[in-house]
Amino acid sequence: MAELNPSIIVIFGASGDLAHIKIFPALYSLWEDGFFPDSFFIVGFARTNMDDEAFRKTIFDNLNVNCRKKPINEDDFINFSKHIFYLTSKYDDELSYQKLGKFITRKASEYKMPKNIVYYLSTPPSVYEDVIDNIKNADLISSKFKGDSFSKIVIEKPFGYDYESAKNLNGKLLSVFKEDEVYRIDHYLGKETVQNILAFRFANAIFEPIWNNKYIDHIQISALESIGVGFRAGYFDKSGIIRDMMQNHMMQLLSLVAIEPPPLLDADDIRNEKVKLLKSVRPFSLNDVKNFAARGQYDRGLINNKPVISYKEEKGVPINSLTETYAALRLFIDNYRWAGVPFYLRSGKRLKKHKTEIAVFFKKLPYSLYGKNGMERIKQNSIIITIQPNEGISINFGAKTPGFKMDIEPVNMVFNYKSSFKLSPPDAYERLLYDIIIGDQTLFARYDDMLIAWQLITSIINGWSKIEPPAFPNYEAGSWGPKEADDLINADGRFWNNN
Ligand code: BG6
Repeated sequence: MAELNPSIIVIFGASGDLAHIKIFPALYSLWEDGFFPDSFFIVGFARTNMDDEAFRKTIFDNLNVNCRKKPINEDDFINFSKHIFYLTSKYDDELSYQKLGKFITRKASEYKMPKNIVYYLSTPPSVYEDVIDNIKNADLISSKFKGDSFSKIVIEKPFGYDYESAKNLNGKLLSVFKEDEVYRIDHYLGKETVQNILAFRFANAIFEPIWNNKYIDHIQISALESIGVGFRAGYFDKSGIIRDMMQNHMMQLLSLVAIEPPPLLDADDIRNEKVKLLKSVRPFSLNDVKNFAARGQYDRGLINNKPVISYKEEKGVPINSLTETYAALRLFIDNYRWAGVPFYLRSGKRLKKHKTEIAVFFKKLPYSLYGKNGMERIKQNSIIITIQPNEGISINFGAKTPGFKMDIEPVNMVFNYKSSFKLSPPDAYERLLYDIIIGDQTLFARYDDMLIAWQLITSIINGWSKIEPPAFPNYEAGSWGPKEADDLINADGRFWNNN
């Protein structure tokens, strides 16, 4: 890959967890791999009072925990950190932005580089609008710059709280930046295995012809975690898993597994297909919600044989919280390819296993020649795309067992990323930051796919608000989730892929 353009990266919320856990480790890895030219610098903008040196020290300490390049060589870090500066600032204070503007002008001229600025919003969402307004008021956008320079904005999730608030935030963003300057992060799109979904489907002749309702019985998309909410209860209790995982990551996985081939592998062509696909998801009325969505909240239980507390006992969670830590959806896509094929989506915390996968189950044979010879053990052929961990793909089918009898047993054909490529992939944030700087929006949500996903999720949230929630907690930590989710899929005569 080529060296990046000279760039200035301004990180709002630079003293927070996301910056230290994801953004700086990704920037450091890109720098160490030689992608940054000499003319680049990073400005941390946050409330915590500190100077450049204290900021650099915190970054160093955190890189040694979170960066894939750890342990970090001190001399290398000194060279990297010469490009890092910190401004103690307030998000709603015009003066802070004027100082930022002057600082950028001075440094850009020292570095003899154009004002190519990437603004990274890594703050709590409550200050997004303040930051956007102030960037505009301080003339820190490219239409106010002389010459051929750019300004872009990167925005983290949660992008809004529901359809209306997402629409308003989007309106605010697009009143200051153009759509091609906006990068809405969904870190799942930066994962190699997620990018491989389209490659698997569209770079091979053998899968796409059977990727439709003629051959596929149903598809399950699971993002299961064994961790709890940890120190993020303040955020999570207001979001629930439906906003935290379903509106973004799960809808993106659904889109990638189900879209039509785009005319070109181009940001807009791919995103146009996603919009078409999401528009075809069958809407449901508030009264229907029970047949399409189930929710749960974890109780105490055992994770890796160790006792863990219930959600309501987590620090920062109200004792009467009705927030769901698990959700399952049963969706239909009303188009020619997918009519009649249910898509079951589930995501939750404190579950038995940590796995993210797409499981594609094929229809049964029209007639089984091997009916009495073990065929009942081959329930259905399937393709399992494992996003994480043990990244890979397995194809499951039946084979004759060795010997004199005609017996059929299920077997797996497995592709494993690590053993096939023997390379460790870049972290999702490295790929995303690289793409932001070169200006490729393929791996970012566009305003319209994001809003359609919100429309669907908001109808579930509204539906849930009208009916009595299940008696929470309704699943044990360390289990596969609540009975309500089993009922959702079992009612169709199908079962979750709990392997
Ligand atoms: C984040 C959610 O977007 O994704 C977290 O806010 C979740 O709650 C995380 O744990 C999962 O990401 P990953 O990459 O670990 O699957």
